[in-house]
Amino acid sequence: MTEKITLLEDLPGVGPATAEKLKEAGFNSIEAVAVASPADLVVTAEIGESTAAKIIVAARSAADVGGFETGDKVLERRKMVGKLTTGCSALDELLGNGIETQSITEFYGEFGSGKTQITHQLSVNVQLPVEQGGLNGSVIMIDTENTFRPERIAQMLGSASARTDQEYDPEEILHNIHVARAYNSNHQILLAESASQLAEELKDSETPVRLLIVDSLTAHFRAEYVGRGTLADRQQKLNKHMHDLLKFADLYNAAIVVTNQVMSKPDAFFGDPTKPIGGHIVGHTATYRLYLRKSKGDKRIARLVDSPCLPEGEAVFSVTMEGLTD
Ligand code: GTP
Ligand code: MG
Repeated sequence: MTEKITLLEDLPGVGPATAEKLKEAGFNSIEAVAVASPADLVVTAEIGESTAAKIIVAARSAADVGGFETGDKVLERRKMVGKLTTGCSALDELLGNGIETQSITEFYGEFGSGKTQITHQLSVNVQLPVEQGGLNGSVIMIDTENTFRPERIAQMLGSASARTDQEYDPEEILHNIHVARAYNSNHQILLAESASQLAEELKDSETPVRLLIVDSLTAHFRAEYVGRGTLADRQQKLNKHMHDLLKFADLYNAAIVVTNQVMSKPDAFFGDPTKPIGGHIVGHTATYRLYLRKSKGDKRIARLVDSPCLPEGEAVFSVTMEGLTD
C-alpha cells in the first residue's frame, strides 16, 4: 500500500521551493496541479517540461482526476450540482431552476442592461441556505470596472427578505463577499488564478466559496487589445482565463458568473451590434449565455441564447430599489 499523497511536497520532483512557487501561482492543491498543463508549471515553477509532465501524472493519480470516468461517476458529480436563485422566478425558470454550479453563466448586454445589478444580487443570494435558493456559501468578485457598491448590497437584502420573510445582517453578508479590483487583463487573469487559494482556505469552513464573479470579463481585454493584429493574442489569453474559471467551477463546485458587453461602434461597421465581445472563445466555454436588454422603466428582458439542454426563451425581471424581483 502506498501512502496517500495530500501535500504538494509529497509529489515526486517537487521540493519545498517548487511547492512554494506553485502555491504562489495558485496551484495550491493536488487537484489544481492535476488539471494544470505542463506549460503552466514550466513557467510558474521554473522547472523543465519533462519534470512538469511527471509531476502532473503523479498528481493525477493521487487526485484521481484526469482519466476517463464512467457515466455513473459523472452522474454522481452532477448530483452535486447546486442551483442559485436570481431572486426572479421567471429568470430562474429560464435557467432551469437558477444558476448552476460547475458551469459558467454569461450575462451580456449593453450598458445599463442590469449585468452589474445581477452580480450584486447573486452575491447576496448565494449566502442564503439551500432551502431559500442559496448555496450556503461565500463569493469572490473580480471587479474590473470599479462598480462594486457595498451600499447596494445592503439595499438588495430587501428582495431576499421579502422572498424568505427573514431579516439578514448586512455586515455579515458583506463579510462573505471577497472583492478584488482588477487593474488590467493580466491582473485579472492572476486574480482568477489566486482565487483558488482563497477557496482552498475556505473549503472546510462554514462558508465555502460557491460563486465566482467576473464583472466585466472582457472590458480590459477589449481596451488593451486594439486592432486586428492583436486579436489572436487576445483570444488566446481570454481562452486561458475562461479555462481557469471552468477549472475553479469543477474543483469547488462553484457557480461562475461573468458579464460581457456587446459590440458597439466602431465594431458595428463590421458586425451585429448585439453580438457579445470575445466571439467563439467566450461562447464555447460559457455553458449558459443570456442576452439582456432594457425594457420599460425598471423592467429588463433576458434571453437564453445557448444552452446544452434547455430551450431558448425569454424572461422579464425588474431591477428595483430592493434588488432583483419578478
Ligand atoms: P455596464 O456595466 O455599464 O455595461 O452596465 P450594466 O449592465 O452593468 O448595468 P447595471 O447593472 O449597472 O444597471 C444599471 C441600471 O440598474 C440603472 O440604469 C438602473 O436602472 C438600475 N439601478 C442601478 N442602481 C440602482 C438602484 O440603486 N436602485 C434602482 N431602483 N435601480 C438601480
Ligand atoms: Mg456593469
